[in-house]
Amino acid sequence: MDFNLSEEHLAVRDAAREFAEKELLPGVIERDNEQKFPMEQIRAMGQLGFMGMMVDPKYGGGGMDTISYVLAMEEISKIDASASVCMSVNNSLVCWGLETFGTEEQKQKYLPALATGEKIGAFCLSEPEAGSDATSQRTTAEDKGDHYLLNGTKNWITNGNSASIYLVMAQTDPLKGHKGINCLIVEREFDGFVVGKKEDKLGIRGSDTHSLMFTDVKVPKENRIGDDGFGFTFAMKVLSGGRIGIGSQALGIAAGALERSIAYAKERKAFGKEIANHQAIQFKIADMGLKVEAARLLCLKAAYLKDTKQDYGQASAMAKLYASEAAMQNAIEAVQIHGGYGYVKEYHVERLMRDAKITQIYEGTSEIQKIVISRGLLK
Ligand code: CAA
Repeated sequence: MDFNLSEEHLAVRDAAREFAEKELLPGVIERDNEQKFPMEQIRAMGQLGFMGMMVDPKYGGGGMDTISYVLAMEEISKIDASASVCMSVNNSLVCWGLETFGTEEQKQKYLPALATGEKIGAFCLSEPEAGSDATSQRTTAEDKGDHYLLNGTKNWITNGNSASIYLVMAQTDPLKGHKGINCLIVEREFDGFVVGKKEDKLGIRGSDTHSLMFTDVKVPKENRIGDDGFGFTFAMKVLSGGRIGIGSQALGIAAGALERSIAYAKERKAFGKEIANHQAIQFKIADMGLKVEAARLLCLKAAYLKDTKQDYGQASAMAKLYASEAAMQNAIEAVQIHGGYGYVKEYHVERLMRDAKITQIYEGTSEIQKIVISRGLLK
């Protein structure tokens, strides 16, 4: 076993860190305040290869491994979790899903623009009445021979308005339950597709989260991913990898909270010495550091298993569960360490605390991860 990162991995991590500090940090507070999507920065991330990191270079991607992706996600998320959720959905759910399960025509048509950040993708599974209970899809895709007729509503869709390509799960044959669900590629311009209201969120406020409405949208049959009825399995397989991305996002938030707390504790004086010299703060820093280390190892292990073509569903659920709990706890402690300064926007940690919460909810709540983990352990 080798815990050292290769030169290539270190270079990816350093490039992501430099980009985040130079291009994402300025303006991150304003974007959060104004709920402004970081479009310019996402385009730049695309040019640097961060939007299609694992995609084969023949489709315009970076041809990198999942470990590189974890390292880059951590660095981007330390600074701007709104940018990193866009990156995660585009990489793990949309690009990976299309490249792994799409037809050659679908890959050639959609991947190059998605992998370079010229276009952004969205993954549309959740509905008003289907969040954790993802098999209860009400959106319908009626089989009309050469096309499907898509009707329904999707909720809380990341990249809802910034995306151009949408992977939409819909029920074709209700009698078959989850085996009757299909995943269809929907283009923004298709008639009958409307982007609905933007959610006013607690955190990741720079990310655009929308409801989507489909009314008699004609989707050509060639836009279905996989065989008839593959849609739910597709969603589950894609989410297993997605959880490595969101786990890494949570890791970045946890690590960002730690780094900011260490810097502040070494500067801020109370009772005649830097607060880093008070044991109350030292113990918090120790706990936070331990959580970051454990979360990082879990994310990297899940990535390693994926890269070496081993089963990674359990490992990705564990990484996502642990890292998101670490993000929440570290962000709360970072606010506490910063005291009054922690409660105002200028010091960033209150944003980390608001951003951390969603990592315990999307791509499967903490409770769903426990279902996945316990099923694996008890089988
Ligand atoms: N890979 C392949 N197939 C899988 C799978 C996996 N990881 N997990 C489940 N399946 C298959 C099962 O084998 C089963 O198929 P068969 O009937 O052929 O055996 C089928 O899927 C149904 O599975 P279950 O019977 O286990 O279904 P369930 O309803 O009991 O529970 C669940 C499944 C794990 C709870 C699932 O519903 C789930 O993961 N829910 C959470 C949904 C989620 O993560 N949503 C995130 C939305 S996307 C998002 O958040 C993006 C964003 O904005 C950042």
